[in-house]
Amino acid sequence: MKTSTIYRLLPRLVLCAAACNLAVVAAERERVPMDFGWRFALGHAYDQHKDFDYATLLFSFAKAGSGDGPASPRFDDRTWRTLDLPHDWAVELPFDAKGDGNHGFKALGRYFPENSVGWYRKTFTIPKEDLGRRIGIEFDGVFRDSVVWLNGFYLGAERSGYGSFHYDMTNYLNYGGANVLVVRVNATLGEGWFYEGAGIYRHVWLTKTQALHVAHDGAFVSSTVADPGAVHPEAEVTARVTVENDSDKEARFTLDEEIENADGKIVASSHGVDSGIPAAGSSDVTATLSMRDARLWSLETPYLYKLIATIRSAGEVVDRYATTFGVRTIRFDPDRGFFLNGKRVEIKGTNEHQDHAGVGAALPDTLIAFRVARLKELGVNAIRTAHNPPTPELLDLCDRMGMLVLDENRMLGTTREGYDQLKRLIVRDRNHPSVILWSLGNEEWALESSDLGERLTRDLTAYAKRLDPTRRSTVALSNSGLGVSLATDVLGFNYYVQHNIDRMHQRFPDRPMVGTEESSSEHTRGIYADDPAHQHLVAYDFEADGKHVSIEDAWRYHLARPFSAGLFYWTGFDYRGEPTPFDWPAIGSQFGILDTCGFFKDSAYLLQSWWTEKPMVHLLPHWNWAGKEGQPIDVRVYSNAEAVELFLNDRSLGRKAMPKNSHLEWKVAYQPGRLVARGYSAAGTEIAGDTVGTTGSAFAIQLIPSEVRIAADGTSVSVVTVRVNDAEGRMVPDAGNPIAFDLTGPGRIIGVGNGDPASHEADKYVESVSSIPVAEWRTKATDPKVSGPETAPGFGDSAWEKARDPRWDEVRVDPPASVFRGAFYLPAGAERAAIKLVLRSVGDTQSIYVNGHALAQNLKFDAVGYEYALDPSLLHAGRNVVALYVTRFSAANKALQAFSWDGAGPAAVQVAMPALPWKRSVFNGLAQAIVQSKREAGEIRLMATSPGLAPAVASIAVK
Ligand code: GAL
Repeated sequence: MKTSTIYRLLPRLVLCAAACNLAVVAAERERVPMDFGWRFALGHAYDQHKDFDYATLLFSFAKAGSGDGPASPRFDDRTWRTLDLPHDWAVELPFDAKGDGNHGFKALGRYFPENSVGWYRKTFTIPKEDLGRRIGIEFDGVFRDSVVWLNGFYLGAERSGYGSFHYDMTNYLNYGGANVLVVRVNATLGEGWFYEGAGIYRHVWLTKTQALHVAHDGAFVSSTVADPGAVHPEAEVTARVTVENDSDKEARFTLDEEIENADGKIVASSHGVDSGIPAAGSSDVTATLSMRDARLWSLETPYLYKLIATIRSAGEVVDRYATTFGVRTIRFDPDRGFFLNGKRVEIKGTNEHQDHAGVGAALPDTLIAFRVARLKELGVNAIRTAHNPPTPELLDLCDRMGMLVLDENRMLGTTREGYDQLKRLIVRDRNHPSVILWSLGNEEWALESSDLGERLTRDLTAYAKRLDPTRRSTVALSNSGLGVSLATDVLGFNYYVQHNIDRMHQRFPDRPMVGTEESSSEHTRGIYADDPAHQHLVAYDFEADGKHVSIEDAWRYHLARPFSAGLFYWTGFDYRGEPTPFDWPAIGSQFGILDTCGFFKDSAYLLQSWWTEKPMVHLLPHWNWAGKEGQPIDVRVYSNAEAVELFLNDRSLGRKAMPKNSHLEWKVAYQPGRLVARGYSAAGTEIAGDTVGTTGSAFAIQLIPSEVRIAADGTSVSVVTVRVNDAEGRMVPDAGNPIAFDLTGPGRIIGVGNGDPASHEADKYVESVSSIPVAEWRTKATDPKVSGPETAPGFGDSAWEKARDPRWDEVRVDPPASVFRGAFYLPAGAERAAIKLVLRSVGDTQSIYVNGHALAQNLKFDAVGYEYALDPSLLHAGRNVVALYVTRFSAANKALQAFSWDGAGPAAVQVAMPALPWKRSVFNGLAQAIVQSKREAGEIRLMATSPGLAPAVASIAVK
């Protein structure tokens, strides 16, 4: 459910219902993205020093406001890397055989404590005028085990990496000043058996409302349509809106509801009566609105309405809340499958995990849209969000693009946490017309054949029904045992070969069913003979093994059973992890019908031939078989034409009728040249065709952007296909040339990929930033001075006192002036890096030296501190010395003193190694570069070069 906040209300000031001193607050609800300008660093899973001394104080978790290390608002993060969300640090890590194969062999997890904890910090201001509003922070999802702090106060923890969660920050904020939001993410453990990423890989939102407001996800909109087949269908829309009064006084309000159509016109409205709501209370207001000529949401015309709830109190608008919904009917029938708006729709679905080439789990919204669009090109009409709650933006896109969704829970359970996970999923997602069914879980082996399974499922099914009486739920089953299956609304079968579906249908005649997973056949794009040495598998749709079946078998099986609502293939896109049937060095799955970039494997065209109407013919394999002259090649044709004729070098090899829901095969003795397939209508007219030709060698690069114009919003992407062609512009089907990229203009490359499930080339080239503390501080009282022999790197300071630890403020009174010496250690190779020293004021004045070289003298106190880019000629690998002459803090400055000597202390060094140039090899002729806009207009030029090949340039306008 998307709440939109773009209301052009006149900024209005109203009386605050809360007992706040500042009694005037702004009226509008606001929801603003918090994706830009975060600081990031890796911590450590168990070494407290490498984890910035987090949670090492006695009161870290004992007293409110005692967050220490990075959780302290005073922590200096200026040496950390700056980045924008969404961010997945796992995809930036190298591959490692010690990593978990199911998670894609990234150097993450138990064996890599130094890579498995990430810290995010963001400083933001809240204006004084906001005092009295309710201010919250929403996370669409963080992988995983996150702890959130604000201004040193613990807000909460969320274990799951897939649930959306939010915290109320109202009381903890600094109004009229800076606030520091800190998130510690621990991705040591996984939740799934597939690549899951690491970090704040979805959006973060800041929300502001008044004390009297619509609750979070607080409107549930459902509709009934008397006769969905009517020319002018009549719909009754029921909206239940939860109003919350977060003040300490009773409030009176009215709630008006309006339905706005896609043109922004109000088409129905209801006016609420004056009601009371107690202090700290909430109240549900239900209204029924009738629409006489409703436009139904369907796959072909995904028409959307908006429900707008307006709360008025004392004659003023105090909140407006909008949620998108669609009017449609759904029904799962035990004998006839699935019905949308009264018409049977065969579910032609795919299962999807959430990662993409180049970017891992951190997908910009426009890349998610790209993926949905690719699936729609094949005629896919449904996605199962295997095996977890999706990002809410996926559902917004499915609503808009006309795609059905089987929305899945992560961990099935009936403890408080189990119920809560399911509740957050359903309450968040239940207004989406795209969502047609809830999945409570997947292949819960311990429950599938047990009483326990039946009990748990019965409770959860009933719970889901209470939260959403308009939909049914399922659990995907790996076998037909009697346990879970006894208590689901809809039977979800993973792989017909693992069940006896006909017998189950007889046994449970009242129960609808759907194939929640099918086929799991494994193919590598562009490979036509198994090549285990490279972990590549043939792309013909053969039966994969004894357990799984071909794409074609699966489709025909479900099609032959009208009681089956259809199927979801395992999977649409390839994903990282589960490198079945291989192990290291393979790193990705090959179950996809598309590869990780979204390039079609041949089986994608097989689906297109059954599932789409536009005439098409697809011919495989390629026609570069030097050395196989005269030998039979297995040629296949996928087409929706009535008949297809094959020609080799203009000689007909015969015309064949195209069997429905199947394919055609020829054995063709290889001769170089051109193999052509022509598709004909029933009337014999040629309607489509395909050609594969023996290509010349690689000659030129071609770049094909998915979008030639993108928004200057810093998030939109153009997905650029990189092709290697021969001199005639034909893709060279086995090309593997290395491609180097360069980019100018207001954009950046955010990831590269090529779909090879065993490629260990980097997906990302990012600057590598490390933060080195200046440590070993020693100090000695001295006369006030700005220079002296103590600056010399070799000066002997071992007899000096260790610098005090002001965590214990009363330890000692400062002398009037002191000299301090500390050290930092640079790794070999640091001379190639940009090195920055950051300091905070240590006294009223300070003079700063590095290795005896003066950076500044007599600097005045500054609450923010100082930053110096260090000249490499001053530095060397190993020990480098910082010396400071300091005069004591005056009382006023001491109060502002911003550093603490715990953790990073008053100084640190940033070592920033520039990113290496972007590059990626093509795999079987293709690669992909994902280009994202910056927040300025202009022209992006992406250049691609490779030794011996003609270069290419793509131009993308940023508006
Ligand atoms: C299924 C499982 C999927 C995936 C698939 C691979 O049993 O539900 O997540 O692992 O097998 O064939």
